[in-house]
Amino acid sequence: MTAYTKIDNCLSTRSGHLFIEECDTVDLVKKFGSPLFVFSEKQLRENVRSFRKGFSAFWPGGEVEVLPAIKANWILATRRILSEEGAGADTYSYGELHAALTAGVNPEIISVNGGGKQEDLIEKCIQNNVRITVEDLDEPDLINQVAARLGKKAKIRFRVKPNFPELRKPTDFAQEKVTIDIGIQVYKSGIPAQYLPELGKKVLQMSNLELVGLHFHGGRHDPSLWYWENLMRGYAALIAELSSAWGGWQPKEIDIGGGFAIYRDPHNKLGLRKDVVETWLTWPLVKLLGFLKPGLRYKIMGKVLPLFSKKPNRKMAPTIPEYGQAAAGTLHRELSRLGINTKGVKLQIEPGRCLYGNTGIHVTRVKKFKQQTMPMPWNWVLTDTTYFFLAGGMYEYQFNHYIFANRTDDKPKYVADIVGHSCYGDRILPIVQVPDVQTGDLIAMLDMGAYQEVSACNFNALPRPATILVNGKDSEIIRRAETIEDVFRRDVIPERLIRR
Ligand SMILES: Cc1ncc(COP(=O)(O)O)c(C=O)c1O
Repeated sequence: MTAYTKIDNCLSTRSGHLFIEECDTVDLVKKFGSPLFVFSEKQLRENVRSFRKGFSAFWPGGEVEVLPAIKANWILATRRILSEEGAGADTYSYGELHAALTAGVNPEIISVNGGGKQEDLIEKCIQNNVRITVEDLDEPDLINQVAARLGKKAKIRFRVKPNFPELRKPTDFAQEKVTIDIGIQVYKSGIPAQYLPELGKKVLQMSNLELVGLHFHGGRHDPSLWYWENLMRGYAALIAELSSAWGGWQPKEIDIGGGFAIYRDPHNKLGLRKDVVETWLTWPLVKLLGFLKPGLRYKIMGKVLPLFSKKPNRKMAPTIPEYGQAAAGTLHRELSRLGINTKGVKLQIEPGRCLYGNTGIHVTRVKKFKQQTMPMPWNWVLTDTTYFFLAGGMYEYQFNHYIFANRTDDKPKYVADIVGHSCYGDRILPIVQVPDVQTGDLIAMLDMGAYQEVSACNFNALPRPATILVNGKDSEIIRRAETIEDVFRRDVIPERLIRR
C-alpha cells in the first residue's frame, strides 16, 4: 500500500517521495534537471478563488476584486491562469504593466502603483484605460496634462497613508526595531492623511481626472488578525474624514492592498531581531572561551552552535477566510458605523505572498555532504542552487520549510548548513536537521511561489534555473533554464578591445 500524507492541497508525500499535484518531484528533476522552480496550477486557482470567496463573505456591499501583486510573480503563464480566473493585477512598473496586458488581464482591474511615474508610463496607463494609483502630491497635475493631451479622462485613486497610533507592536517588516505605526510612516509610498483634504478638493476640480476610489497598502508588518482589524479601523476613519472634507464624495472602489502572510509564514524567521537575541547568548560565551587555545575553542563552539539549530516556523498564520473576516468584515462594519454607504462599492485586494507563496516549490540536488571534524566540527549539505536564485526570500530573512524530496520518511541524523554553491557563504538554511544525506538527494523548499523566482540573479555567472508548471499529471516548461550564452547576452566588448 502507498503511504500517503497530505501536506498541502497540492503537496503530498507518497512512499518516501514528495509529490506536487500528481507529479513525483524526483521524476520532474529527471525530466527537467535541477535546480527547478515548480508551480501548481491547481493551488494557484484554489488560492485566488479562496481570496474572492473568503472576502466576499464579509463584504455584502459590492463585488470583491482580486488584484494579485504581479511583482511577486510575473511569469506570463501563471499570470494567464489568474486572468482566466478573472483576477486583476497590482502593477508597479512599465514592465509589470506590460506583463499584465500581455497576459490578458482586464485593464479595468489593473492598478498602476509607484511613485515618480514618468510620462511614458502615464500615457500607457491612460491609453489602456487602467487605474492610476497616485502616490505623489504633484502626480495629479501631470496625469491631468497627459490625459488632456490625449483627449481622455484618467481614472485615478489616491494611495493613502492613514495614521495608526494603536499599532504599537514591533514591526517585523522594517529591520529597525520600531513599532508598526512608525514602520508604515517611514515607508516611502502613500500620501499622508494630512495632505489629502486639500489634494482631493483640487483633483475633484480637474476636468481630465476622475477620482474613483482610494488605495492603501500597509504590507506584512505582522501576520495577525489584530493587525488587520486595526489597519481597517484606521483606514475606515480616514475614508469617512475625506468623504466629509470632499463634500460627501463616495468611493466607487476601496483597495486594501496586500500583506497577508503565507500560512506557514517563513517571513523574517532568520531576521536580525532573532540574531540579536542569539548574539546576547553566544557572545559572552565566545568572549569567555577567548582565553582557551584555538583548537579547544573551535571544538566547544562546534558543539554549542548546533544547539541553536532551527526548525521552520510552527506557528501558522491565519487562513485566507480568517483574513477575509478580519479585513473585509472590520472595514465594512466601520464604514457603516461612520455613515459611508458601501452599497455597490467594490472591495479590491492585492495579495502577493499569500496568493502565490504555496503555489511554488524550489527543488535542488545535493552535490555533496561535506563534513569536517577538525579543527571545528561542522557539516554542510552543498546543493546545486544558490540563494542568489532566491534573492527575494533572502532579502526578507525567510526561513522556509524544506523536505528531502526523495527520502521524505527518513528521520533527521545530522545538524548541518544547507548551502548553495555560489562563492558567498550562501547559507540558505543554516543549522538545520538533515537525514543521512547522500549525493544526488533532492531538497524541496516550500512556499517559493512569491518573490523568489522573479528575483533570481546571475551571481558567479550561474544560469538561472527553469520553471515548470504542473497540472495533475502533466508538467510543462513555463520559463526555460538559461544557457551560458544567455548569461553573457547583454555583454558588449568594444571593437577596439577585440582587435588588440
Ligand atoms: C501596492 C502593493 N500591493 C500589494 C503588495 C503585495 O504585498 P504582499 O506580497 O505582502 O501581499 C505590495 C508589495 O509590496 C504592494 O506594494
